[in-house]
Amino acid sequence: MSDAIVYLNGEFLPLDEAKIPVLDRGFIFGDGVYEVIPVFHGKAFRLEHHLQRLETNINAIKINNPQSKTGWASIINEVISRNNPTDQSVYLQVTRGIAKRDHKFPHDIEPTVFVMSNPLTEVPESELENGVTAITLDDIRWQYCNIKSIALLPNILLRQQAVEQNASEAILIKDGKVTEGAASNIFTVKDSIIYTPSKADCLLPGITRDLVLELASLHGMPCKEITISLNELQDADEIWLTSSTKEILPITSLDNKKVGSGKPGETWKTMYHHYQDYKSGLSS
Ligand code: PDD
Repeated sequence: MSDAIVYLNGEFLPLDEAKIPVLDRGFIFGDGVYEVIPVFHGKAFRLEHHLQRLETNINAIKINNPQSKTGWASIINEVISRNNPTDQSVYLQVTRGIAKRDHKFPHDIEPTVFVMSNPLTEVPESELENGVTAITLDDIRWQYCNIKSIALLPNILLRQQAVEQNASEAILIKDGKVTEGAASNIFTVKDSIIYTPSKADCLLPGITRDLVLELASLHGMPCKEITISLNELQDADEIWLTSSTKEILPITSLDNKKVGSGKPGETWKTMYHHYQDYKSGLSS
């Protein structure tokens, strides 16, 4: 039994009491979008960036947006304050709503809105000290990976394949180029220059990715958004993954080979500290 309080279609209620009809198009078709927002010291981190991406995604799949940015922010903040831990991970999902099963969009239905919060799982100290492992896999996903769709079957199959090979993440390769991780964005470092794939339809514009780029520019760390080939990935001195829940994690083994020295690199250490400083600057 959980004592979490969630939001569902206008109501705040215990998780166990939150139910949706089986004809919801999210259940039937995966017809919806989502956000994951980290909360530090009770404050949603980079909230305005998440709300902008949410709005872009809702518009991209032609759902009638049921809330203004202020409306979304107040629901999210209420869910945060009704749940206990100071560090949380808010999950927000919007689906097209409930209708008889039919591929074409139904008219006049209300989107289903669900928001829950879980305690934020801390990244284990050992992962920061030693880094994590990754494998490369073929990017089998669709063409609009810039949309944060709830239809994540390819992503979960890819992540599961990585886990079954004792890796933390799958780095996805499309036409010989790095796109992103199964649930993260990817950075490389070569000769102290930071690289990340440019924003395109084939990857999610990560909020953490944007912050890393911002921090690199703020602190004069050379950084380029560019195409990264599989060869360049294999030849990198450092590889990082970024996401709202994992923050910035060093990948120290790729396809069972050491990345650089096999230990988290100096550029990662510097960026990780800038990121933590930025976080504590916001909450103090
Ligand atoms: N996923 N790319 C993919 C495919 C992702 O699923 C995610 C995050 C990211 C990183 O985006 P951000 O920095 O905005 O979290 C990139 C979340 C955490 C999830 O699905 O749980």
